[in-house]
Amino acid sequence: MAEVAGRAGAKSRPEFRNIHVFQLSSYRLPLAGIVSILHRISGALMFLVGIPFILYLFEQSLTSEISFENYRAIVSGWFAKLVLLALIWAYLHHFCAGIRYLVMDVHLALDKEQARGTALSVLVVSLALTFVVGLKLFGVF
Ligand code: HEM
Repeated sequence: MAEVAGRAGAKSRPEFRNIHVFQLSSYRLPLAGIVSILHRISGALMFLVGIPFILYLFEQSLTSEISFENYRAIVSGWFAKLVLLALIWAYLHHFCAGIRYLVMDVHLALDKEQARGTALSVLVVSLALTFVVGLKLFGVF
């Protein structure tokens, strides 16, 4: 009987079920969820694009004088600068979010409000730093 009453009690609480693929566009992910997904995307971006691209540029910059000129031509183009900016954002976001996870791993800032605050800080700090580095990259100062 107690068990039935317990089940009846549970029914009045909000239920969270898996959402259907058609509900994805109307689902609002919490900030911590957005930071988490971006952390995975930024890690994959650095690994899959960052490492090959940086190694290629490094090789071009060292092999010969001609390849160095080629390297200079590549990195002064707007497309390479955009790729570099994306990688810089990936690194800065991954770094800030990674520090957040390490802090949470030692059981700090775990409650909902604090977690939301640290997630917001990660987004704001990483985007602000990316903006400043982007200005430098595109020669504004
Ligand atoms: C800058 C310093 C870095 C810090 C502080 C950091 C921190 C972390 C942490 C704490 C995790 C585990 C997250 C979790 O528990 O879900 C992680 C995952 C990962 N990191 Fe890093 N990381 C750094 C740099 C890098 C770099 C340079 C790369 C790639 C070249 C990278 C690639 C990855 C990948 C692919 C994952 C797995 C992501 C996932 O499965 O969601 N990280 N990082």
